[in-house]
Amino acid sequence: KSIGGYFELELNNEGEYHKKLLRLNTARNALEYLLKAQNFRKIYIPYFTCDVILEPLKKLNIPFEFYNIDCKFEPIFNFDLVKESECFLYTNYFGIKDLYIHDLKTKIDNLIIDSAQSFFSKPLENIHTIYSPRKFFGVSDGAYLATNRLLDENLQNDISFDRMNHLLLRADLNAEEGYAEFCKNDSVLINNPIRSMSQLTQKILCSIDYTGVKEIRRKNFDFLDSKLKNKNLLNLKVSEDSIPMVYPFWSHKKDLKKVLLNNRIYCATYWPNVLEWCNDNDLEKVLTMEVVYLPIDQRYCEEDMKFIIQCINNSLNDV
Ligand SMILES: Cc1ncc(COP(=O)(O)O)c(C=O)c1O
Repeated sequence: KSIGGYFELELNNEGEYHKKLLRLNTARNALEYLLKAQNFRKIYIPYFTCDVILEPLKKLNIPFEFYNIDCKFEPIFNFDLVKESECFLYTNYFGIKDLYIHDLKTKIDNLIIDSAQSFFSKPLENIHTIYSPRKFFGVSDGAYLATNRLLDENLQNDISFDRMNHLLLRADLNAEEGYAEFCKNDSVLINNPIRSMSQLTQKILCSIDYTGVKEIRRKNFDFLDSKLKNKNLLNLKVSEDSIPMVYPFWSHKKDLKKVLLNNRIYCATYWPNVLEWCNDNDLEKVLTMEVVYLPIDQRYCEEDMKFIIQCINNSLNDV
């Protein structure tokens, strides 16, 4: 430990939210770690997920099979098909499937929960769970993994400082100025070896007011739900202690996302690859093209939610 000299970025040291989990560099690499450590021979994955999930499967040459989901984001699948040497990956979609996962864990033995979208859902006992904090906070990488078997490998520490400029640009200028760098830094995460979480990412994750973040996210989600529930074609049932990532809103207004974008309200597409993987009449394709995933995160207050609702209502009245 050096003493004296110039200062580093000053951050609080409140502690991490997932204190006891393994710290790795990305969620896809957390999946790779898990598949290696558990020696699974095949994995079932949803069509409705991010294509980077395929990265570890290709790297390790593990056969995979896709499954479909219904409009409650739940698998249409016969769980008896999963053999002892195989595993089943389910995503806690948008952090709103906690209740369902409680039920699902009684039905499958080798269940892996992809909690990339549900940072605040604590891992259930003996259930492999992966997390990707950059979907919830201003970090450029990092992952947590809940597992009971460790790999006998010495992992190098990841280094993040040179893929963080989008965070700085957004803080210093605005969202638009940092977007190209965000895309670049996102693509730098492709095909990296499994590493331990960088010190910088860990330090930032130690500095977050998790209680405050939880409160704001849930309040914003509930506010949108109270105003949009009657217009939402999705029937969302969210347990009281769930902390969602976004508010999924499905209406017949096909260009709603574009209308919101024109008002500088940016909604991510989950997931562009689904458009290639699925046919026009598959529900997954509809969930990608027609559902807008509204921001509800800790940067926003009730006034911002009101603005989102106003834009939506104006747009729906235009139909
Ligand atoms: C559902 C889901 N799981 C896993 C991942 C992979 O996370 P990471 O980028 O940390 O590897 C993503 C997106 O990147 C995702 O959307």
